[in-house]
Amino acid sequence: MTDLSRPILPGALPDKRQVAASFSRAAASYDSVAALQRDVGMSLLGQLPAGLAPSRWLDLGSGTGHFSRVLAERFAQASGVAVDIAEGMLRHARHEQGGAQYHVVGDAERLPLREASVDLVFSSLAVQWCGQFASVLDEARRVLRPGGVLAFSSLCVGTLDELRASWQAVDGLVHVNRFRRFDDYQRLCAGSGLQHVTLQQRAHVLHYPDVRSLTHELKALGAHNINPGRPSGLTGRARMQSLLQAYEAFRQPQGLPATYQVVYGVLRKPQG
Ligand SMILES: C[S@@+](CC[C@H](N)C(=O)[O-])C[C@H]1O[C@@H](n2cnc3c(N)ncnc32)[C@H](O)[C@@H]1O
Repeated sequence: MTDLSRPILPGALPDKRQVAASFSRAAASYDSVAALQRDVGMSLLGQLPAGLAPSRWLDLGSGTGHFSRVLAERFAQASGVAVDIAEGMLRHARHEQGGAQYHVVGDAERLPLREASVDLVFSSLAVQWCGQFASVLDEARRVLRPGGVLAFSSLCVGTLDELRASWQAVDGLVHVNRFRRFDDYQRLCAGSGLQHVTLQQRAHVLHYPDVRSLTHELKALGAHNINPGRPSGLTGRARMQSLLQAYEAFRQPQGLPATYQVVYGVLRKPQG
């Protein structure tokens, strides 16, 4: 993930092949650790405009297909397309059945769909992996029919800050994914040509007994750090010990907190 709050060098963009490979590897473990992702996706579904009745929906960054199945149930008369950059995720989703009719490998910044071909683009916790959110918005507007809805959730600055600060105390290297600022989401949505329905930020705080439980979970989700500039190789024993010590400063009665700053956005393509 790239922090678009500052001008960025092309060299600092995440490598999409690495993103795809990381999520493909995580396809089998993802659902067992994706409690936050399920909560966020359900909350996003709850924000869809009342009376929305798409004849075709797109689940963008569909992962294991959990929300494709929820969308298929909710919009039983509609047909669905699942698009993800990770082939391994799509293979897993296809295997589960009951979700999208079509599973297509593709990039949210360059959708493999015709213009004005869907009524709903639903995308939960995927677009934080896209370097150019403006391109995601352009593509959503292109593939939506007039009156169609884009509903997305994403992550913004403040996410995993406890882990980031703890690593900062150890070595100052890039150990945690970078995120856009919420006001960048606001600015980009405002300039997208889509009508604003809602755009909000909400913190979700999870608790873990220890740091290893958190880092293992991030790995099982495929969402561990793959940024350029990350340290290579295994983390040495002494550095790991310093990390555990630094994170202890955040401990609460429920355990070690990990904050996710979630952005929820619902936008509509103008009629005509
Ligand atoms: C955290 S998972 C979320 C999956 C699912 N939406 C959910 O809520 O369970 C993120 C997904 O986004 C996909 N992804 C990342 N970058 C993408 C891109 N540029 N285009 C399409 N999918 C992408 C990943 O492969 C992964 O399956």
